[in-house]
Amino acid sequence: MSQIELRNIRKTFKVYERPEGKWALLRGAFSRTVRAVTALDGISFTINEGELVGYIGPNGAGKSTTVKVMSGILTPDGGECVISGRVPWKERKPHVARIGVVFGQRSQLWWDVPVSDSFSLLRDVYNVPPGQFQKRHDELVETLDLGGLLKTPARQLSLGQRMRCELAAALLHSPDILFLDEPTIGLDAVSKLALRAFLREENKKSGVTMLLTTHDMDDIEALCSRVMVIGRGRLLYDGGMEGLKERYAAYEGQDIDEVIAAMYEELAL
Ligand SMILES: Nc1ncnc2c1ncn2[C@@H]1O[C@H](COP(=O)(O)OP(=O)(O)O)[C@@H](O)[C@H]1O
Ligand SMILES: [Mg+2]
Repeated sequence: MSQIELRNIRKTFKVYERPEGKWALLRGAFSRTVRAVTALDGISFTINEGELVGYIGPNGAGKSTTVKVMSGILTPDGGECVISGRVPWKERKPHVARIGVVFGQRSQLWWDVPVSDSFSLLRDVYNVPPGQFQKRHDELVETLDLGGLLKTPARQLSLGQRMRCELAAALLHSPDILFLDEPTIGLDAVSKLALRAFLREENKKSGVTMLLTTHDMDDIEALCSRVMVIGRGRLLYDGGMEGLKERYAAYEGQDIDEVIAAMYEELAL
């Protein structure tokens, strides 16, 4: 059986808009228009234990919403999602104990305290036995080269340094699954390479299942044999990197947005 299974997941957000124009403020006090934004329009896929899957798509495609549903943060409007035998938003506590999540644009480190204090707090939050915690902690400090950063408050770290600490924070409780939501966003080239090397090694060594969202094609090329492309809340492609490249050979060297525009056209979306 698959470790992660999504079937026809749907999620629509209500967005409240104020009318535009000269009298907008006044009218806005009385009327607001509600617009429905479909973030996920029936997403289905399965992922097996130990896979490293790339989830790629342009801004607003629905990547983060998918990650939030799988992490139990959001309840979808419809469809089914079962991860390691649990429905994330119904069995949130046991679920989050077995997953790790990294959001590139949000930190799970406490901003004003030394990184090591955040790590200790996470040990208590996840109730990791001290011996097991220490072993994992030391491993991560070594492979991510965090030795010199542990006493530094998170807010003083560079983005690359912070991202290494975020990875450790997400893996300290030895989860089976790691969701990475745009972990390379804003990183310099050297930090990107280091992060990719770490993920590749961690996936191979510990067998942690990984789903990596990105809109950087190079991330996927470097890491994933399987790629899922999402656009406008729908899955546009699920298969090997080679297959994607073959189908869209004409777009070689272009960024992912161009490839996806071609997919929209093909599918008449
Ligand atoms: N909390 C929210 N409220 C309203 N709209 C949202 C919310 N979260 C996401 N959306 C909308 O849903 C769509 C998908 O967003 P998201 O999953 O964040 O895309 P991605 O991560 O691929 O950039 C976008 O149109 C976005 O504006
Ligand atoms: Mg996002």
